[in-house]
Amino acid sequence: MPVSPPAASLLPGQREPVDERRWADLVKGLTLAEKVRLLTGATLWTLAEEPRLGLHPVVTSDGPQGVRGTGDVPGETGLLAPAPSATAATWDPALARRLGRLFAAEARRKNVDVVLAPLVNLQRTPVAGRHFECLSEDPLLSGVLGAALVQGIQEAGVAACLKHFVANDSETDRTRYRARIDPRTLREVYLAPFERIVAEAGPWSVMGAYSGLDDGTESAPVLEHRRILQGVLKDEWGFDGAVISDWAATQTTAPAANAGLDLVMPGPDGPWGAALVDAVERGEVDEAVIDDKILRLMRLAARVGKLTRPWAPGEQAPPPPPATTEPPPAGETDFTALREVLTRGTVLLRNERDLLPLDAARLGSVALIGPNAVEPYLQGGGSAYVPAVRTVGYAEGLRAALPDTVTLSVHRGGSSRRHAPFIDPARLTGLRAAFLAPDGTRVGEEIRATGNWGFFPVPDGVRDVVLTGRITLAEPGTHTLEFGCAGRFTVALDRNVVHSGEDDRGVDLILDSSHNHPTTHRHTVRVGTTPRELYLRIDLRVVDGEGYGRFVTAHVRHAPPGPTAEDEIAEAVRAARAADVAVVVIGTNEEIESEGWDRPDLELGDRQHRLVRAVAAANPRTVVVVNAGAPVLLPWADQVPALLWHWLPGQEAGHALADVVLGHAEPSGRLPWTLPARAEDVPVPHAIPVDGVIDYREGLHTGHRAYDSAGIEPAFPFGHGLGWTTWSYARAEAPEPSVPVPPSCPAGGDGPRVTVTLANTGPRAGREIVQVYLEPPAADGDPVRVLAGFAVTDVAAGETATVTVTVPWRSFHTWDEAAGRWRPRTGRHRLRIGRSSGDLRLSVDLDILPGTTGTGHTPRPVA
Ligand code: BGC
Repeated sequence: MPVSPPAASLLPGQREPVDERRWADLVKGLTLAEKVRLLTGATLWTLAEEPRLGLHPVVTSDGPQGVRGTGDVPGETGLLAPAPSATAATWDPALARRLGRLFAAEARRKNVDVVLAPLVNLQRTPVAGRHFECLSEDPLLSGVLGAALVQGIQEAGVAACLKHFVANDSETDRTRYRARIDPRTLREVYLAPFERIVAEAGPWSVMGAYSGLDDGTESAPVLEHRRILQGVLKDEWGFDGAVISDWAATQTTAPAANAGLDLVMPGPDGPWGAALVDAVERGEVDEAVIDDKILRLMRLAARVGKLTRPWAPGEQAPPPPPATTEPPPAGETDFTALREVLTRGTVLLRNERDLLPLDAARLGSVALIGPNAVEPYLQGGGSAYVPAVRTVGYAEGLRAALPDTVTLSVHRGGSSRRHAPFIDPARLTGLRAAFLAPDGTRVGEEIRATGNWGFFPVPDGVRDVVLTGRITLAEPGTHTLEFGCAGRFTVALDRNVVHSGEDDRGVDLILDSSHNHPTTHRHTVRVGTTPRELYLRIDLRVVDGEGYGRFVTAHVRHAPPGPTAEDEIAEAVRAARAADVAVVVIGTNEEIESEGWDRPDLELGDRQHRLVRAVAAANPRTVVVVNAGAPVLLPWADQVPALLWHWLPGQEAGHALADVVLGHAEPSGRLPWTLPARAEDVPVPHAIPVDGVIDYREGLHTGHRAYDSAGIEPAFPFGHGLGWTTWSYARAEAPEPSVPVPPSCPAGGDGPRVTVTLANTGPRAGREIVQVYLEPPAADGDPVRVLAGFAVTDVAAGETATVTVTVPWRSFHTWDEAAGRWRPRTGRHRLRIGRSSGDLRLSVDLDILPGTTGTGHTPRPVA
């Protein structure tokens, strides 16, 4: 059943409660078709306008590495933050909240009302394509940081869109699979971050996932899953915002409308429209259901300042209220903020004999080495992409921070790429695209000397695009040409077909990222003493991407004869040997980490391993920096003196690395996931659906819990991270060693407290993340311990600090499916306190007694 809206509520910037009953009267003035029109987006990013409701167009944009904007402003750029896992690695909700405010300001600058972020799916498997976009493998850490991000975004009057509800934790076949999850695991693990964020931060919108859910009671695409959308999210949790479909995810009319989906995106076409009007007229969908959706959209619009008094046809629309604060143009202050998020999130995994930080005054030369030193991977691929306002590479950042007297040399040490780079435009002659109508007549053309015709938009009325031109290969030796296209196509060289495809899937080619990363074909060409010229022709059938538009994709790549990887590694090793310090930056790239597909494994490639080993053998002062969002295997991790995890760092990469390496800032990150030592140790090594189902059979044993339960030692445990100082944990106390547990327990932060006294025993000020893990009374099959709380503390050298960590009541409850409620768990619980899940230094017992009163919850004030 639809929830009736609260009669009156306070919206941001408003002192008087808004009387939503007035809205219902306005809605009555619309016909059914006029109402239904509003339930599908007007464009790719914008919601529909309705003067009679006072509804102005609400504009959405991706998240979560920044705010991309709608593409309406040619050449628009923006702030590019570190990937979300780096934010999670700060374990610092206050910092996450500041980042949320920065996103809101960026949204305001770009006239965006809804930021499609944060993403709080869990990192169930390390190979998940969108791992870098997620916060953590842990539900509590994801929930706490996610709530802070939502609060930061929304306190500036911009809506967050919490995504992807729920259990869309991997990409393989993402629009079709069903995640089969037992009810207790679903509640305690995958729903947990969403529930906490809804309770604590009240997001104004939630995005329903592409994938499906089988919770034992109902098996359906999430967007048609009545029990989870209407039942859990709306009725049970009281979510009063709008449920928005993931882009092009809605497959049905009445089932999705009745399940609780409020808005189909993108528009203007889609499965609702006239079909939904018919479904209401046939009695399959109650008109009250439609009205509830409109009220939710009006509430969203009101919250972002896009609901005014109604206006008449032909009348000038009343201007929406000005935003509470007009953000200044993005600039140095924002750059500094992003740099701080990154240094605070950078994880110092290893630092033998205090190699780091380097003393710049005692350095003569630095050799900066590695494929990612030359070409840093700043952001993950897919919808999170933001064209950055500026980027600071590693060489640039180090050069700016090092004294002029220090020599900095840069060496790639071999490519880590699987694909050749895009062909140099200078090798192309007369490359043009001819646009053909269905009858074959030529209706236009575009001339561009580029090998990148990826996601190339095509006007209506064009059915085929034919690329023709000449390629010149001059240097003697073996050249490699590589072609990648999407859909139905042929590639011919000198009139011989060398590659072809027949994929007619349409929009699915966009959703599975075939356009970003088409499968490629390699072709080698021997060139002798005379240059060769090849005639290229690529025939492409236009792909209909529905709301996304119409596209063709053709990539023309080329590798000339040149030094081998071995030659480059040898050159880098010589440079390392001659330098005072070698800094080796290795990692992933856009071929590897992206939305749209999962990785096959956690490999970095043999070349990068050989490079690291050879450089570390050549120079004992070698610092290895991993530029990757998700775990990769580092088989040499315990053989290199210093090891930093630098994430997908965003625009301030080089400055932030220099800050850390030269000791201007402490790398105070802690891993928000577990780094496995060996492929065979990974609890969930992949997520390939079997007969359309992904079985979450590991149940509650996810991430670090699985390692602890199985007694497997990872390369670095969840929560691990060093810094510039050392810590001694002195005491932990529970002020009330036995406490009655409230019998019922909404999500949220309240619960018993534990105080921890610790001392900074090192020579420098430092930041510590005090972590509290809960070991419940042994019960068959339960994880041995779960993260139950944490606190950040900054302590001066030699000083002692006492921090208080709250363990939420929810940690003392388990989900009882038969009763349909949370059930308190009584008995002796042990709290283990330390620096990481693998370095637990103190413990304190807590007796949980049966309680008879209270909900354990301080209600959130209506915002
Ligand atoms: C992604 C969403 C994103 C949307 C709009 C989808 O493919 O799954 O996360 O917000 O596209 O770009």
